Amino acid sequence: MKLKDVYPLYLNNKAAQPNTDLAVTDKFTGEVAFRTALATPDVIDEAIAGAVRAAAPMAKLASFEKQAVLNHCVARFRERFDELAYALCVEAGKPIADAEGEVGRLIDTFRIAAEEAVRNYGEIQPLDISPRSKGYMGMWKRVPIGPCSFISPFNFPLNLAAHKIAPAIAVGCPFVMKPASMTPLGAIIIGEVLAECDILPEGAFSILPASRDGADLFTSDDRLKLLSFTGSPGVGWDLKAKAGKKKVILELGGNAAVIVDRDADLDHALARIIFGAFYQSGQSCIGVQRILIHADIYDRFRAMLVEKTKALVSGDPKDRDTFIGPMISEKEAARLGGWIEDAVAGGATLLAGGRRDGAMLEATLLENVDRKADAYREEAFGPLAILSKFTDWDDALAEVNDSKFGLQAGLFTRDLHKVLAAWDDLDVGGIVVNDVSSYRVDNMPYGGVKDSGLGREGIRFAMEDMTEIRNMVIRRA
Ligand code: SIN
Repeated sequence: MKLKDVYPLYLNNKAAQPNTDLAVTDKFTGEVAFRTALATPDVIDEAIAGAVRAAAPMAKLASFEKQAVLNHCVARFRERFDELAYALCVEAGKPIADAEGEVGRLIDTFRIAAEEAVRNYGEIQPLDISPRSKGYMGMWKRVPIGPCSFISPFNFPLNLAAHKIAPAIAVGCPFVMKPASMTPLGAIIIGEVLAECDILPEGAFSILPASRDGADLFTSDDRLKLLSFTGSPGVGWDLKAKAGKKKVILELGGNAAVIVDRDADLDHALARIIFGAFYQSGQSCIGVQRILIHADIYDRFRAMLVEKTKALVSGDPKDRDTFIGPMISEKEAARLGGWIEDAVAGGATLLAGGRRDGAMLEATLLENVDRKADAYREEAFGPLAILSKFTDWDDALAEVNDSKFGLQAGLFTRDLHKVLAAWDDLDVGGIVVNDVSSYRVDNMPYGGVKDSGLGREGIRFAMEDMTEIRNMVIRRA
């Protein structure tokens, strides 16, 4: 398999090559893998103008037409499965099995959107609730919010772009998208497939790699009615402050926890936690960062975790045996490596891993970490997990909540009452019972509270955000 040397951007539905200014590296070798264009503010402005022109014709597309576009994407992604997985493997350094998993999820996401595209229902509402409204009835429908601005992250270059693009098409919103500059190819290939759909009016979509400095219009331009950003908390909240009147959806980070109770199936918990903490080198917003283990099983489960972690195979993500590939950059690996060193200097015990070579950081386990350490409080977004011990379930829930983040949490217990207490009391967007925080299926409501964000993705939920309710009141003659 080989990538092309140069890829275009997509401006108002068409491939364009204004320059080849963005060099994208193979994250394992560090060599330039391909080049693509960087959109300048003029190009972004032209794309927004195109999206504004496309808003009315997009809103008029029939449900079956939007469904046909989404089904076309599903079919083409299936045909291009291997190429898409390879692209992720190169541009994100994602081990090939994880890359294939993401392509499968991309297909799911578009398939769900194709199904939802014909279910954009409204409601009839009796308004005759008092004498003054006798004879009145109401009904409401959902109309597209208008041109949308999407900014997608590096860690799932296909599927997190898809979580914005697919619902936008399902409701009939034109959009401009800025994919992460380190991994633009996933979104570019989605653009290539959308460009095959003549039914989309000109301006329906633009996919524009851009440097952060030149990309202000994605946030500040008032012609855009919604900004949906997935990425780091610092950037996300800053963009919200600059977004003016537009609706803002933020899918940000976390330092997710799992609780392993004394009655848990430890072999199952072990397999899932190793996966949830370390797959794609921990670069997931819901990756397991904190593992709370009941005191009665702590020593045994710690030994199991340490053994399994030390056995993980690191190396070239193109090699099928590799489980731990590179982090997205040496800078990120050095940042997390520094947090690990600081934690150890502050009294933490290093149980496994901890060594770094360039962008490769070993899968690392720590215990006795000071709760004020960055490794505990901040989002690791890398292959680090921290063990701690609890005896009382409520104390464990309080420890999970001892975080500025609140995305997802995992619980391994057979006790329904404990599950229900966690569902009530954990301040997170969702809990996962008998699996890890990192578990996600693409139709479920997904998003966070506290610093982890605003709003929910998961197609139906994103479609709600990308529409406005338009009400109609009728007085019977
Ligand atoms: C994320 O990292 O934000 C999303 C995780 C996922 O979709 O699995």
